[in-house]
Amino acid sequence: MSRIYIFTGKGGVGKTSTATAHAVKSANDGVKTLLVSTDMAHNLGDLFEKELGREPVEIIPNLDVYEIDPEYVLEHDFHEMSESLRKMISLDSDVGMEDFGMIPGMEELVSLLKIAEVYKEGIYGRIIVDCAPTGETLSLLKFPELLSWYVEKFLPVGKVAIRVLAPVSKKLLKVELPNREAINDIERMYLKLVELQELLKDREITSIRLVAVPEKMAVEETKRNYMYMNLYNFNVDGIYINRILPKDIDNKFFDKWLEIQGRYVIQLEECFTGLPIWYIRWYDEELKGLDAVGRICRDVLTEDVFASRMDGPREEFRENEQGYLLRVPIPYVEKDELDVYQSESDVVIKLGNFKRNIPLPDSIRTYEITSAKLEKEYLNMQFELK
Ligand SMILES: Nc1ncnc2c1ncn2[C@@H]1O[C@H](COP(=O)(O)OP(=O)(O)O)[C@@H](O)[C@H]1O
Ligand SMILES: [Mg+2]
Repeated sequence: MSRIYIFTGKGGVGKTSTATAHAVKSANDGVKTLLVSTDMAHNLGDLFEKELGREPVEIIPNLDVYEIDPEYVLEHDFHEMSESLRKMISLDSDVGMEDFGMIPGMEELVSLLKIAEVYKEGIYGRIIVDCAPTGETLSLLKFPELLSWYVEKFLPVGKVAIRVLAPVSKKLLKVELPNREAINDIERMYLKLVELQELLKDREITSIRLVAVPEKMAVEETKRNYMYMNLYNFNVDGIYINRILPKDIDNKFFDKWLEIQGRYVIQLEECFTGLPIWYIRWYDEELKGLDAVGRICRDVLTEDVFASRMDGPREEFRENEQGYLLRVPIPYVEKDELDVYQSESDVVIKLGNFKRNIPLPDSIRTYEITSAKLEKEYLNMQFELK
């Protein structure tokens, strides 16, 4: 089965270098590979010192590189759809998108949809995604879930209801329902979003890889990132600690730095016990060009670097004596950062700027949430018959 690897982390920690090294290794292993960048500040072109076009460009045998130009894709593939969506989202309403906190730009969403499309074409054995810095990636990853939830709730897609509701919707629902042509577009978009969500959450298909450096801010951000990824049930199955100073430097100046780095490496190891960790040294040159990136391949990327771990923490819903138990892994969260409540047919988990609506199965609509407890790295929510 083809797989997708998404590299994310704070700005400047080495996402592009690490992702590229993986792509080169994958190609050298004989797997047809696509390296794709969704970061608006594209730098794959710089790295390969090559002009990249609007379509994938072959760099070495088995490796195509693709810097998505969202405006171009938007214009060609999703024009009307994006217009209707833009309208829907920008409307000020009680039930509007502002409920959901951060909303990514249409451009980033389009990049992700494009990747899903390329995946489905089945040309590539591996798709390696070089992402924008953490915040943007997070809002991007959670967006399909939020948007499809929203569409499901407020647009009975594919039902006559839209036509019936359209004249009154603006007043009643405080949402402007799109015209009929746009509905087809939205339907298409909706199906794509559902597909995209399934793709990104399928542990057999998608791996999220976190890149960090041994410094305080980066360690903190990596932990938060991991927490949110878990909240949204993504498969984080590896972490890279980059820019590690070599131990054999013969210069007093670095003694203190070696000690500081050592401390944060240990912190990261303690945070991510159970996950595979790869260590990347600080090289004596900028990682430009195939040769430089090849150093990471040789020094770090072991045989099993593409293996996906299926046994990480994951969401679980099960019957127990009192009723049903929903378990969501949220490591490193403090009790008072979390807010949990039931809202009609969803259970809502709020954490800082993030909010996740987990739809409840029909079978437990007559149940209510009776407790929510943090136990180890899981949030356990108990449901009992009303
Ligand atoms: N291990 C390393 N040794 C030396 N230079 C590095 C290393 N990792 C990254 N760099 C350099 O640091 C800069 C930022 O790396 P990059 O991979 O572009 O980070 P990001 O994509 O996370 O912003 C680049 O100039 C890159 O060549
Ligand atoms: Mg980058």
